[in-house]
Amino acid sequence: MHNLQALHTFGLAHSAKRILPLGEGISDFGTERFWILGQGSNCVFVEDFDGVVVQVNHAGKKITELDDHYLLEVNAGEDWHSLVQFCTEKQLYGFENLALIPGSVGAAPIQNIGAYGVEINRYINSVEFFEISTGQTHRLSNEECHFGYRDSIFKKELFGKVVITRVLFSLPKAWQPVNHYGELAKLNSPSATDIFNEVIRIRQEKLPDPSVIGNAGSFFKNPLVSKKHYAALQCEWDQLPSYAVDQSSVKLPAAWLIDKLGFKGKKVGGIQCHPRQALVLTNDGTGTGEQLLELAREIQQQVNDVFSISLENEVRLVGKEGLITL
Ligand code: FAD
Ligand code: EPU
Repeated sequence: MHNLQALHTFGLAHSAKRILPLGEGISDFGTERFWILGQGSNCVFVEDFDGVVVQVNHAGKKITELDDHYLLEVNAGEDWHSLVQFCTEKQLYGFENLALIPGSVGAAPIQNIGAYGVEINRYINSVEFFEISTGQTHRLSNEECHFGYRDSIFKKELFGKVVITRVLFSLPKAWQPVNHYGELAKLNSPSATDIFNEVIRIRQEKLPDPSVIGNAGSFFKNPLVSKKHYAALQCEWDQLPSYAVDQSSVKLPAAWLIDKLGFKGKKVGGIQCHPRQALVLTNDGTGTGEQLLELAREIQQQVNDVFSISLENEVRLVGKEGLITL
């Protein structure tokens, strides 16, 4: 059995039968139960996993300058933040709002990583992967990936069927800052480097560092509700913020809902609702999967009872046989 504590940022002390590093070549693991892993910053092993953990670590990148944009072909095992830093330093702009998001490049399209007004689908040209059952390689265009908020075809139809090997990004030479979100709005005509530095500053202030305390970022997704539902909630909660989505729905900050219910700082054993960011659950190193599920389910239940909103977990919870739901 192999301990998974150091292989996922939440750091629960669970194990897998075997760890299989997956480099450039295709390995035959398809007949065993498996879980594909990048840097484990969006996966939480809540039980011992009865199978093989396949770690994608194939690094390497190629950059081609074209007339009006740069084409970046980046292998799945590259570190996301290192890529953002490298591009910002080389004056290839666009990724700066997504600085300091932990994880691998291969996982970035899976939940369409996003922060501070930008989602990565804006810059994805296509995604390459191999199909586990056949070993055949394929490439999906941006449109074919069906990107949405924290969502893509890789979390749905293709979940558990493919290993992403390479992501192709297109960074236009004509760059405009995106600085409308939250504290970024204070910046006046910022450069990409200003945004990069400010995003890092805000994140270091607001989000707990997984190398200091175990966590997996936002535990829940921000829920979408109808405008009618939002209007009804506002009668009682007039401070409830919202983000525009389309004509009929809005997105609500789950952190605000959880905060209002008084969960900040609440502990179940070694698991805690973070005292500064209610959407993040942490593990002080002694927490267990059961304690995490207990606190997460309590939050989900109370948000449902009080606001009639059903929160969906953003993190992938992995049990004995694979993905589990809350
Ligand atoms: P993992 O956790 O290893 O895997 C995530 C999922 O992808 C799993 O289902 C796994 O099976 C699958 N997978 C991984 N690699 C591959 C592959 N090559 N092929 C097929 N499947 C694969 N996310 C945001 O969107 N925005 C944020 O602002 C943000 N902030 C965060 C802050 C903190 C402190 C932390 C800990 C996490 C944060 N996250 C955020 C979540 C996380 O950083 C992203 O989801 C990241 O993309 C996960 O990368 P990973 O390599 O760690 O993926
Ligand atoms: N808020 C509270 N209480 C809190 C924390 C926040 O009321 O304890 C309020 C804030 O005042 C603000 C709102 O909630 O009005 C939103 O807070 P914030 O800007 O911190 O963002 P978030 O909704 O908590 C989302 C993403 C993050 C991403 C940030 C910045 C999701 C699930 N989370 O967090 O992504 O970094 O916006 O764009 O969409 C992640 O996915 O793991 C992640 C960290």
